[in-house]
Amino acid sequence: MIYKFAPKANYEDFASGRVLYHMQGFTNFPVRLICEVFMRCFSLINKPSAVVYDPCCGSGYMLTVLKFLYGSHIDTLIASDVSEEAVNLTKKNFGLLSHAGLDMRKEQLQDLHTRFKRDSYLEAIKSAERLKGLICEGAFESLVFKRDTLVDKSDCKADLILCDVPYGIKTAWSGEGDDFINRMLDNVWDNLNAVGVAAIFSDKKQKIITEKYKRAEKVLIGKRKFEIYVKLK
Ligand SMILES: C[S@@+](CC[C@H](N)C(=O)[O-])C[C@H]1O[C@@H](n2cnc3c(N)ncnc32)[C@H](O)[C@@H]1O
Repeated sequence: MIYKFAPKANYEDFASGRVLYHMQGFTNFPVRLICEVFMRCFSLINKPSAVVYDPCCGSGYMLTVLKFLYGSHIDTLIASDVSEEAVNLTKKNFGLLSHAGLDMRKEQLQDLHTRFKRDSYLEAIKSAERLKGLICEGAFESLVFKRDTLVDKSDCKADLILCDVPYGIKTAWSGEGDDFINRMLDNVWDNLNAVGVAAIFSDKKQKIITEKYKRAEKVLIGKRKFEIYVKLK
């Protein structure tokens, strides 16, 4: 894949579990790919800043990374997941998106270093300091809630939906039946503003068939693919 927007860079400050919180069972995601897909979507909405929603947010990793790296393009983060544990972890990660949050995290890491003497904690403190330099001044809102995105309705509204759906390796769809990916897209259509864009990361087996969106892009990368859809009226 040719990257049009996201530079090749060292993204180790975003390694899951280093400064950003991680728990066993939660998935990671390549930072450069998140950035590229976000910017491809952002370029379609023609707004100075966007409300971005992840309806299968897991640890909130994707949104947290995006807010650090593209803070001025994002005024609101919305995240939901069927799992209470995921909701709580996302809240902790969103809590890092401020100077105060990162100072608290640095204290935690310092305390861990005092107890366990591992150099990795000192490296993480340096990462937290660098992340502080990325914090965007100015108002920013976030909303995190529990939702079964196949079934539950929500009145939240976003400009962009970014979603790394379950592939069945570390995480599986929760819910009865099949055709999960299309049921989710159908259900979140209401959550997009009129000029709304949805980017879905999935494995190759899950096929999107929809009349509510127009496909703008489909790109295969290794075992994954991403598809970008524009909302139809
Ligand atoms: C691949 S992970 C998402 C990773 C996430 N994008 C991140 O940044 O960490 C998939 C998530 O989908 C959630 N999920 C599974 N079924 C769901 C459903 N019916 N409604 C909402 N979330 C669901 C799982 O709990 C899991 O957290």
